[in-house]
Amino acid sequence: MADNSIRTDLFSPIKLGEIELANRIVMAPLTRGRTNEEGVPNDLNVTYYVQRTSAGLIISEATNISAQGRGYAMTPGIWTEDQVAGWKKITDAIHAVGGKIVMQLWHVGRCSHVDLQPNRDAPVAPSAIKADGNVYTNNGIAEASMPRALRTEEIPDIIEQYRHAAECAKRAGFDGVEIHSANNYLLEQFLRDSTNHRTDQYGGSIENRARLILEVVEAVTGVWGGGRVGIRLSPVTTEVGNTPLDSDVMATYGYLIQQLNKFKLAYLHFVEGTTQKNRDVPKNVDLEALRSLFDGAYIGNNNYDLELAISRRAEGKIDAVAFGRPFIANPDLVERLRYGLELAEATYDTHYGNGAKGYTDWPKANS
Ligand SMILES: Cc1cc2nc3c(=O)[nH]c(=O)nc-3n(C[C@H](O)[C@H](O)[C@H](O)COP(=O)(O)O)c2cc1C
Repeated sequence: MADNSIRTDLFSPIKLGEIELANRIVMAPLTRGRTNEEGVPNDLNVTYYVQRTSAGLIISEATNISAQGRGYAMTPGIWTEDQVAGWKKITDAIHAVGGKIVMQLWHVGRCSHVDLQPNRDAPVAPSAIKADGNVYTNNGIAEASMPRALRTEEIPDIIEQYRHAAECAKRAGFDGVEIHSANNYLLEQFLRDSTNHRTDQYGGSIENRARLILEVVEAVTGVWGGGRVGIRLSPVTTEVGNTPLDSDVMATYGYLIQQLNKFKLAYLHFVEGTTQKNRDVPKNVDLEALRSLFDGAYIGNNNYDLELAISRRAEGKIDAVAFGRPFIANPDLVERLRYGLELAEATYDTHYGNGAKGYTDWPKANS
C-alpha cells in the first residue's frame, strides 16, 4: 500500500503555539446544524467528533458566544452552564483517544434573523446595512433581517461576550480557541469598509476598523494566553451575505496581521479565495505577502486536495492544512490521505440538519 508520509511531512507532528498536534492535517470548522434550540451539544455530536479524531487538530463548528450572536437554528453555544457541560463530554471523549480540539468563537453580527434574536430584536452590526443572503431559522431558510448599528457604548459588552465565551470554553476542556474573524460575520463586518460606515473610534480609518478585533483578541488571550488562541481570516471572500471586499485588502489586512503579532498567537488561519467556491484572488491582492507578515504558524484552507497540500507544504507556504468538506464523508480522512485510499463525497443535502443521517453514518474506509 502507498504511504504518502514518505513524500511529505504533513503526517508528522507540529506544535501550533502551545498546542501539540500529531499531524499537520486540521479539520476545518463545519457548522452541521445537529444541536438543539438551547445550543447544547448532545451524544450524537460526541460520536461525530470522536470519529474524526485522527485530525491533528479539530476546529469545532462555529459556536455562538451569546444569544445575540446567533444566526442559524440548531447551532451550539458556549455561554450557559448546560452548554459547557455538553461540550465537556466532547472534549473528554476526544482527549481519551488522543485528539485535540479548539473551539471556534462566533458572533454572526448582521447575518441573522429576528426569529433567532432575543425578543425578536434586530440583529446587531457595525452599520445598518442588510446582508444579501439567507440564514436558517426554525421555520426554514429566510432572508437575513435588517440589522441595527451597535452604539459605541455597547461595544464593551460585545468584547465581554467573547471573554465570557473564552472562559466557558476553557472550563469545557478545550485545547484552545479560534476567533472567527472570517466569512463576513461580526468581526469581519467591522474590518471591511464595505460593511462598516461608522464615524466613532470603531469606524473610518484602518486602525479604527481593526480596533474591535484587536480588543477581542486581547480579551480572549487574557483568558487563554496567546499560545492557545488562533484566528481565522478570509481577506478575499464575498461569502456570506454577498459582502463586497474591503477597498484596500492589502493595507487593511496587512495592518491587522502586523498588530496580531504582538499577541504571539498559536496560528493564523486563512480561507484562501472565496469560501467553498474557488481559490481565485483579485489581481491587486497577494495572500502570500499577507501571510508572510505573520510571525507564527499558518494554516491554509479552501479547496485543497492532497496534492495541492503537499506542494504548498514543500514550498513552505503552509505549516498545516485544513480540510472542511472532505471531513464530512471521510471520518478517517487522515488515514485515507496517507494511504491513498478513495475518498467519499458528501452531497449538499447532508451538510445541515437531519440527525445521524449524513452525519455519523459515514463508514471508515474498507469497513
Ligand atoms: C457544511 C459547512 C459548514 C461550514 N461551517 C463553517 C463554520 O462553522 N465556520 C467557518 O469558519 N467556516 C465554515 N465553513 C467553511 C469551511 O470551514 C471551509 O472554509 C470551506 O468548506 C472550504 O474548505 P474545503 O474546500 O476543504 O471544504 C463551512 C463549510 C461547510 C461546507
